[in-house]
Amino acid sequence: MSSSIPEERTLVLIKPDAVRRGLVGEIISRFERKGLRIDAMDVRTMDAALADAHYAEHVDKPFYPPLKGFMTGGPLIALVLSGDQVIDVVRSLVGATDGRRAAAGTIRGDFSLSNRENLVHASDSVDSAKREIALWFPELS
Ligand code: PPS
Repeated sequence: MSSSIPEERTLVLIKPDAVRRGLVGEIISRFERKGLRIDAMDVRTMDAALADAHYAEHVDKPFYPPLKGFMTGGPLIALVLSGDQVIDVVRSLVGATDGRRAAAGTIRGDFSLSNRENLVHASDSVDSAKREIALWFPELS
């Protein structure tokens, strides 16, 4: 009987601001150089229903309408990444929500000055990753 623990997966969205600014290659390169594996990747445009499902915990917050407008306003790249402790590893690479406060060397710290146009979404827990992967890539769950 095998006792190996399966590697984690996480959902990453390279947001419309990153696509518009030509930062997709830079961001994917950081994940690849870290040693993470790309299990799925697709160019998508989020519609209103997917936005409301993806951000279910935020739909009643005051910042949600502008966040929804931004996230549905142009193409993004949806990715599933896997690797050892990938959820925490990716969130460390991405940095704090507000790009103005994110540490230098992180994606947001190096390229964002905003808490809305902050380039990348990454699942924040095993449960969120499962829920988000099922929404974006049901064939993987
Ligand atoms: S919370 O309330 O602490 O749970 O929010 P947080 O995890 O920091 O952020 C959740 C997502 O909301 C976005 N966000 C905002 N968008 C627009 N305006 C404002 N003021 C704002 N504050 C937070 C933030 O970028 C997060 O998006 P995702 O896609 O999850 O990274």
